[in-house]
Amino acid sequence: MAYSRIEILPSILASDFAKLGEQVHTVEQAGADALHVDIMDGHFVPNLSLGIPVVESLRKATRLPLDVHLMIEQPEEFIEDFVKAGGNRILVHEEATVHLDRALAMVRELGAEAGAVINPATPVGMLSEVLDKVDTVLVMSVNPGFGGQAFLSNSYEKIRQLNELRRRYNRSFRIEVDGGVDSENIAQLARAGANSFVAGTSIFHTADPAAATRNLKRLATDAVSLKT
Ligand code: DX5
Ligand code: ZN
Repeated sequence: MAYSRIEILPSILASDFAKLGEQVHTVEQAGADALHVDIMDGHFVPNLSLGIPVVESLRKATRLPLDVHLMIEQPEEFIEDFVKAGGNRILVHEEATVHLDRALAMVRELGAEAGAVINPATPVGMLSEVLDKVDTVLVMSVNPGFGGQAFLSNSYEKIRQLNELRRRYNRSFRIEVDGGVDSENIAQLARAGANSFVAGTSIFHTADPAAATRNLKRLATDAVSLKT
């Protein structure tokens, strides 16, 4: 059976870090399903962001699952630290390791959910041998490293392909999309087969992040339920 539960994952990269606890509480109350936490090392991506102490603090501040997106080289070196810090879902880039299978197995052995991530230039086929070993496949719809970038439209076709593979092989992994997700594209993304939506700018850079969270969820849910 296809996995169809719609989830909204606010990306705290776009939040005001001086008010992080408050902002987390706001989106949690508004129905966010998990928090997306971007970890950048200045090597795999040309930017730095947060690290283990922030994940530990978030773990104490919310009951929401923490979706930890590792944009770092040698992710295997840090997987255990992020699980111990409170990460529930650990997302590893296919491009960041030559041992993706091992990295995903490590995540599951540590008791967390495993996700595989592909960059915009990486075809879906690169994950064909691990689709039975993941809880989530994350399609990057921007080149990772920065919030606020424009959505790349080749993502629709990649999501459709993953949805087809999920159906064909009767898998239940989530299809997550990250980068430039907003109220303009979320319905089409949901119809293509995505069910977990990361949103930074379109939630936290608005006057009302709670309303933005609710609106994104409604648009995605309606898009799927109106589908025949
Ligand atoms: C980009 C990050 C994204 C980013 C999304 O490297 O992986 O999670 O925070 O931000 P928006 O929604 O603003 O594109
Ligand atoms: Zn991310």
